[in-house]
Formats: sequence, structure tokens, C-alpha cells
Amino acid sequence: MADKLLKIAIDGPAGAGKSTVAKLVALRLNYLYIDTGAMYRAITYLAIQYGYNSLDYENNIAELAEAATISLENRENRLHVFVNEQDVTDVIRSPEISALVPVISQIASVRNTLVVKQRELAVNGGVVMDGRDIGTRVLPNAEVKIFLTASVEERAKRRCLELQQKGFKVDLNELKVEISERDNIDSERKIDPLIAAKDAVMLDTSYMTIQEVVDKILELCKERL
Ligand code: DC
Repeated sequence: MADKLLKIAIDGPAGAGKSTVAKLVALRLNYLYIDTGAMYRAITYLAIQYGYNSLDYENNIAELAEAATISLENRENRLHVFVNEQDVTDVIRSPEISALVPVISQIASVRNTLVVKQRELAVNGGVVMDGRDIGTRVLPNAEVKIFLTASVEERAKRRCLELQQKGFKVDLNELKVEISERDNIDSERKIDPLIAAKDAVMLDTSYMTIQEVVDKILELCKERL
């Protein structure tokens, strides 16, 4: 009998290594990787394009999200993000979008719309989905739930390197402040706050290599097959 196709939920704060690890786990299992943060970033990109850059435009932003077509495509080993057929893979990582996305992702109707789209993508299993509310809200029945954490210091260092490699100029201390602020907004928001599901396995990645984290998750997956 063929192996069951699992739903794997990976949640945690910004910079804990979710996307790196999720991509590698998906590759090993030949599963689809779904980056839900990129979906919130894509809606934020659209909002900025339309000049809706604050919660004053909540209803307009909700309409944009509802009407948007978001797709994730693997091309030459890289996940490309399209919104309304425009490739926004690089632009959604800009500091401008990083600063506004926590605001946009607080809008309940935007979240409801994206949660529906995310569940549709996962309907057949065989997915590794990363985000903040995957184990608690999007896929509460996921067979494997992981909550990745790491210290603010370590996460800021990782983000700094990642942004520098993409050609952005960044300051480590500013990044630390930004990450702490983002943690607070994500964990304290009323709807779908960043919180570990009761049945999630907690992994502090501060002193783990990427490979160690990937191996641990693959081990957990094996137990659920
Ligand atoms: O993982 P990331 O940094 O690309 O996420 C961008 C923002 O989107 C971050 O502020 C948290 C938010 N987000 C969310 O609220 N729910 C998710 N499932 C994924 C991301």
C-alpha cells in the first residue's frame, strides 16, 4: 500500500527557520511546500499598490484579498509567488512589506479568506505548510505539528544574513527590535494569535543545525505514516 499523504504544520515566530526547514522536508517527502506568510505578504503588496497602507482601509483590503488569485509554483527549485498572475517572489521580501504585513494580517476578513485558500491547497494531503496558525486554525487535524522557536538574537542574525544575501542593506539592532515587535503583534493579536497547538512538538532551533531539525521532523513523520 502506498504511504499515506500527511499534512505537516510548521508554526513559529519570524526567523525561527520555518521556511528553510519546511522546504527541505517537502523536498525529502516529495510534498508540496506552502508558505502562508508569502500569501499575507502578497496581499500586503496589493494593498500598497492600491494605496491602502493602514487599517483605515480594512474593507478595501478585505475586498482585494477576496478577489485575489494567489498561486505558489516551484520553478527551478525556487518557490515563486504570484498574485493576480504577477510574479512577486522578490518584492514581497522588501523591508516595506515586512513592516506592513503584521498590520494587514490582523484583519479578520483577510485571514478568513486566506485560511479558506490554504485549506483548499492542503485538501489532498502531501503538504508541508508553514505559518503562525497552521496547527491551531488552518489544519487542526494535521498529523504532524511542529512549533519552531529560537532566541530573538539568533533569529535577527539569520534574518540579517538572508536579507544581505538578497542585496538589502540592514542593521542587526534594528532587526532585533523589528523581530521583537513583530513577535508581540503576532502573539497578542485577537484573531489567530501565534501560539503553539496543544499537540505540537516544540523544537528550539537556537542550537540545532538545519539538518538536525529536518531529521527530527522526518522522524516524527515516519511515526505517523
Ligand atoms: O513568515 P513571514 O515572516 O513571511 O510572515 C509574514 C507575516 O504574516 C507575519 O507578520 C505573520 C503573518 N502570518 C500570519 O499571520 N499567519 C500565517 N499563517 C503566516 C504569516
